[in-house]
Amino acid sequence: MTSHVENLPGVTVRVPAKINLELRVGPPRPDGYHGLATVFHAVDLVDHVTVTPAERWGVDVEGTDAHLVPEDDSNLALAAAKMLAGAHTEKAFPVHVHVCKQIPVAGGMAGGSADAAGALVACDALWGLGLGVEGLHEYAARLGSDVNFALVGGTAVGSGRGENVVPALTAGRYEWVVVQAEGGLSTPSVFREIDRLREGREVPEPRPAPELLAALRQGDVEGLAACLYNDLEEAAFSLRPELESVRDAGLMLGAVGGLVSGSGPTIVFLARDRHSACDLAAALVNSGAATRVHTAVGPVPGAQIVESTPPA
Ligand code: C5P
Repeated sequence: MTSHVENLPGVTVRVPAKINLELRVGPPRPDGYHGLATVFHAVDLVDHVTVTPAERWGVDVEGTDAHLVPEDDSNLALAAAKMLAGAHTEKAFPVHVHVCKQIPVAGGMAGGSADAAGALVACDALWGLGLGVEGLHEYAARLGSDVNFALVGGTAVGSGRGENVVPALTAGRYEWVVVQAEGGLSTPSVFREIDRLREGREVPEPRPAPELLAALRQGDVEGLAACLYNDLEEAAFSLRPELESVRDAGLMLGAVGGLVSGSGPTIVFLARDRHSACDLAAALVNSGAATRVHTAVGPVPGAQIVESTPPA
């Protein structure tokens, strides 16, 4: 490594988890993916991704459940950095990627995709590529279906397999309680389960419901609660029946709405306001319905650089 590179500071990016406020899943496509109509919503449950100039490529992960995240080439953040480097060999150099995790692992909140988006933004800055979010979208789409949304954050309508994202107009902020389940659910297995459950059923092309977007524009918490919808919920409940009682407990304890997040097993509840969210989180733990809960607020921005750290 040349000395001017050694002296470059590391770059740290904060990147949010997502909730799908609405997730409508079409029939399987010839490429194995499913067409989606979804409304993504970024919440302030975040990972931090730091890239630092290094002699050789590497990754390490810290935080709750870090041991569940691979520290090899299958790590999506490292894969993202290497993919970007491969397309910009004249400016890129090896980096070490450090991920500090708060987003549940294999929880249906796109934690791996968030880390990939974080690594793209951090490497773009460290290597001086000047791509910005617009230029990073093509790499994001190749890395995974949720990576594009992690770049933009906020609230956005997703289509295709999830990689096409268009920002949605929203008013106000929404208070969430996030219940983390023990163990993860593999996304492909949940999509396979929905296909199995739907055998013999007519599956329409997915279309977003206009009522949900109207509720978001009006900052209407009750209206949003009434529109929360996830086609994958049935599959997640089929694979993990205990999740349904967690969802029911939250609704009984005062949530205005609740559903499985993405492919699960995380369950998210919408609360009327900040106080209600804290009360609900406590009640879920006190009642024994949940052990790992977080409160969260959305929408929040997508991947953002938070600091450049001087070299040691
Ligand atoms: O794109 P990503 O790597 O996040 O997707 C993980 C898996 O989830 C895919 O391999 C596929 O099995 C399933 N999936 C799908 N349809 C989508 C998104 C994901 O079937 N739109």
